[in-house]
Amino acid sequence: MSDFHDGLRPESRIVHPPVTEVTGSRPLGVPIHQGHVFAFPDGDALAEAFAGPDRAFLYNRLGNPTVRSLEHAVAGLEGGSGALAASSGMGAINTVLLALLRSGDHVIAQESLYGGTFAALADLAARWGVTVTHVRGDDPEEVRVALRPNTRLLYLETVSNPTARVTDLPALIGVAREAGVLSVVDNTFTTPLLCRPIEHGADVVVHSATKYLGGHSDVLAGVAVFADADLHHRVWEHGVELGASLDPFAAWLTLRGMQTLGLRMRRHCESALDLAGRLAAHPAVTTVHHPGLPGHPDHEVARRLLPEGVGGVFAVDLAGGREAAGAFVGALRLASLAPSLGGVHTLVMHPASTSHRQLSDEELAAAGIGPGTVRLAVGIVHPEDLWADLEQALGKV
Ligand SMILES: Cc1ncc(COP(=O)(O)O)c(C=O)c1O
Repeated sequence: MSDFHDGLRPESRIVHPPVTEVTGSRPLGVPIHQGHVFAFPDGDALAEAFAGPDRAFLYNRLGNPTVRSLEHAVAGLEGGSGALAASSGMGAINTVLLALLRSGDHVIAQESLYGGTFAALADLAARWGVTVTHVRGDDPEEVRVALRPNTRLLYLETVSNPTARVTDLPALIGVAREAGVLSVVDNTFTTPLLCRPIEHGADVVVHSATKYLGGHSDVLAGVAVFADADLHHRVWEHGVELGASLDPFAAWLTLRGMQTLGLRMRRHCESALDLAGRLAAHPAVTTVHHPGLPGHPDHEVARRLLPEGVGGVFAVDLAGGREAAGAFVGALRLASLAPSLGGVHTLVMHPASTSHRQLSDEELAAAGIGPGTVRLAVGIVHPEDLWADLEQALGKV
């Protein structure tokens, strides 16, 4: 401690406890910098810190060392020039949309989007003068036809929920690029270990890090990755105003989870494909929506775009409809009836009565969702234990 501290009274000294500097060795894990504010030696240094996402740390809404580690880690995996972490996936998505869109702009978006994103776009359309055209997302020509002079953004998801449709990213993004339209891709379901949309021309990649990146159902977080530094800076400025910043402890949990992402993703992919094949042969099941199976409409796209696996989420249609779906999810013991996905646990959902309940019967049918559709988000327990659970529950329908 300095002489200055030595001269203080105890109650003043305790407000300034010694900060231990690590010298001669380095921490192997990323340290948690939980304090939200940083002190500067002089006014010029403080003023300079306001200038951008790569300057000295100042205040956590503008940046934090632990959060920055997460941003660099995800940007590195995605092949981006920089990233912005947010307090949730929706925080990242809304920060990107609000930063890049203005009243009068037109957006082309897939119709099978995550419900929160669909609602955010509908809100922008209803209240902020942005028009949105939804496309199926399996035909680049459809995107070409939807283009308008004021089209600003193409919004896609690598793999859709719950029927695991795989988007032909290079084909669709190619149309947007030709027209000078920015592409944003939600890569939550595949993670950068299975797909890197920036390599296919995307300008921004967004993640609900709450899912596979965090991986343990214990943190809510989001990340947006940018191909280009200018775009990063622009969205960062807006993010500072919006204030959906990530807490350092949540960043640390996400980073800790990410260290096993490689092992987990391999297990998620292998188990889901194995179970999908077994379910396809079960008499209580009419259809299995898994792009790794030859009957799936995007099997060929998946083989080309996602050769290392399509993730752990897929859906099954039960022959007995809604009643069978209810009996099935109620009889499961190892798999839990819960929203979310991408964690170590196996979770199941009945989309028609939960995540997609706002859709009419016709809209549900157009999305490939029937009354007996059940979504599975396969975790990392032993696939034989999981199969035993699924099989006993199917015996109850
Ligand atoms: C594909 C996708 N994107 C975004 C989100 C929103 O993420 P969060 O719940 O972290 O806000 C989700 C959440 O389920 C999702 O599945």
